Amino acid sequence: MTDRHRTSGNWTPGSWREMPIRQVPDYPDRDRLAAVEGKIASFPPLVFAGEVDRLTARLAEAAEGRAFVLQGGDCAESFGDFRADGIRDTFKVLLQMAVALTFGASLPVVKLGRMAGQFAKPRSSDVEKKGDEVLPSYRGDIVNGPEFTAAARVPDPARMEFAYLQSAATLNLLRAFATGGFADLHEVHRWNLSFVARSPLAERYQDLAHRIDETLRFMAACGMSEAPQVRETEFYTSHEALLLGYEQALTREPSTHRGKHYACSAHFLWIGDRTRQPEGAHVEFLRGVANPIGLKVGPTTVLDDLLRLVERLNPANVPGRLTLIARMGAGKVEEHLPPLVKALAAEGRKVTWLCDPMHGNTVAAGSYKTRSFDAILREVRSFFDVHQAAGTWPGGVHVEMTGADVTECLGGAHRLTEADLSRSYATACDPRLNAEQSLELAFLVAEELKSRRPGAPALPLQAAQ
Ligand code: PEP
Ligand code: CO
Repeated sequence: MTDRHRTSGNWTPGSWREMPIRQVPDYPDRDRLAAVEGKIASFPPLVFAGEVDRLTARLAEAAEGRAFVLQGGDCAESFGDFRADGIRDTFKVLLQMAVALTFGASLPVVKLGRMAGQFAKPRSSDVEKKGDEVLPSYRGDIVNGPEFTAAARVPDPARMEFAYLQSAATLNLLRAFATGGFADLHEVHRWNLSFVARSPLAERYQDLAHRIDETLRFMAACGMSEAPQVRETEFYTSHEALLLGYEQALTREPSTHRGKHYACSAHFLWIGDRTRQPEGAHVEFLRGVANPIGLKVGPTTVLDDLLRLVERLNPANVPGRLTLIARMGAGKVEEHLPPLVKALAAEGRKVTWLCDPMHGNTVAAGSYKTRSFDAILREVRSFFDVHQAAGTWPGGVHVEMTGADVTECLGGAHRLTEADLSRSYATACDPRLNAEQSLELAFLVAEELKSRRPGAPALPLQAAQ
């Protein structure tokens, strides 16, 4: 047992089962559920303790102003969209965004996909109504099916096994892309997707790619040896730790790390805005695993709860262990975020702050859920302003995006309007930025970062007094 476990009561991988829990699927056959969880408990882990610890170290850099985090991917992965092209295109866009941010801000970028396991979804309502029909809500492909039929909406434990297998195959491809030559900086031109090549962003990206080429050629001409980071990249996976039976089944105490339990479904797990009760099951589970973890911080977060959560989740105050993902909504950030940021800084709490500018900005447009690019950008800018005023570091962004040419969010360089939404609206849950909107956001965030780099007089990095 680590000190963290000793000081916070008896944690076990299953101690969450004794705590009040929200967002639980209503499985009709509990024996079947237990049998599937038992089977998954015998499957190989998807990630390894050494990788997980390295991510904690990377996130610690971002907590301390020496790195920036880019976390992105689908709101919900789906069984129906399980194709190499989709994984490749989202990975490409994340690489493009990362180079824009790295180049613009002269900082290492920690790349964290919402991929290879982002299946379970919390819902605001347990039921969905269409006309006179009322059915249980869709809770993500790991639980039930999205089709609006009574049969599809019954939670089925067998879906957990398929989610595990899809996660394993996705992770396998991501590892191959990250280290097998695809992510080589010499390939930077090739990451451009054809539809982005026709966009107003194309020129800007090509210019960046040329500058990277020039730099690499210059380094080679000087006889500088190439760092391994030029040829390959580090890429980590993450998802919301919502379906705790599945997470418990993949929790392991590695022989190389005795006394520590790692959640081996992904490198990084987070607690959603609907399941962050300090005495609730989700907090209980995550407080005991050795992974770096995240906590969504929505506009209803009260300071007392946040202080308790931070103490419970990171009592030893280890930098990199806890990432707070603010998702307030544009227009609310300025009011709700400063007291939280300042109070934690004043207590010397080491946290990595990320901005999720998506979830506080969801609006209805007819029968579609959408988000406007302008609101997203406004939330990010306000987040940067709040940190600048508090003297703390805005550690990164968390976005829902895809490499596909979808029309789910409004605005951006092509000025998508409500009339465009029906053209290609494909998300299994929340609206995502398409490749072009994602890249545009990365360029704009890079500009913001450039003007606020550590060392610049406007951003002292010590805690607010
Ligand atoms: C999500 O990230 O998809 C999500 C449901 O977010 P939140 O918990 O912040 O609402
Ligand atoms: Co979402």
